[in-house]
Amino acid sequence: MLDSEGRVVAVATVSPAPTGLRPGAAAWRLRGMAVEPELQGRGAGTLLLDAVVARAGAAGAEVLWADARDSALEFYRRRGWSVEGRGYLTPATGIPHHTVVLGLRSRS
Ligand SMILES: CC(C)(COP(=O)(O)OP(=O)(O)OC[C@H]1O[C@@H](n2cnc3c(N)ncnc32)[C@H](O)[C@@H]1OP(=O)(O)O)[C@@H](O)C(=O)NCCC(=O)NCCS
Repeated sequence: MLDSEGRVVAVATVSPAPTGLRPGAAAWRLRGMAVEPELQGRGAGTLLLDAVVARAGAAGAEVLWADARDSALEFYRRRGWSVEGRGYLTPATGIPHHTVVLGLRSRS
């Protein structure tokens, strides 16, 4: 996501990837969601997350999921995502995470 002067202020990647939490569903995975530190808490993350949901939904996704830092779980909850499964620590960094899931209406 760019600001009015063309600077990158927020990033996210989304692509098809199955999840064992919804076997058989057309699932897409969100990765690398981040907002420039000085702009956090001002709505950019919500704008980007909503755009990601719209993009995946338009492409036929039935489910979106992500491995989210525990420190960001409330951000996802406020946009309707559910926190699922057991928490875990990432091997390299030891940062606590949970998987978050959002059900989308299928186009078919
Ligand atoms: C998490 C992140 C992407 C959210 O983006 P943002 O632009 O700061 O979020 P917004 O300003 O759109 O906030 C939306 C709502 O979520 C809340 N929120 C955002 N981040 C939160 C957090 N870490 N903890 C609790 N609530 C949070 C905001 O208070 C706001 O609530 P409101 O609608 O009641 O005012 C961003 O803060 C970030 O990049 N953090 C560091 C990296 C990170 O944790 N990425 C996610 C990894 S899974």
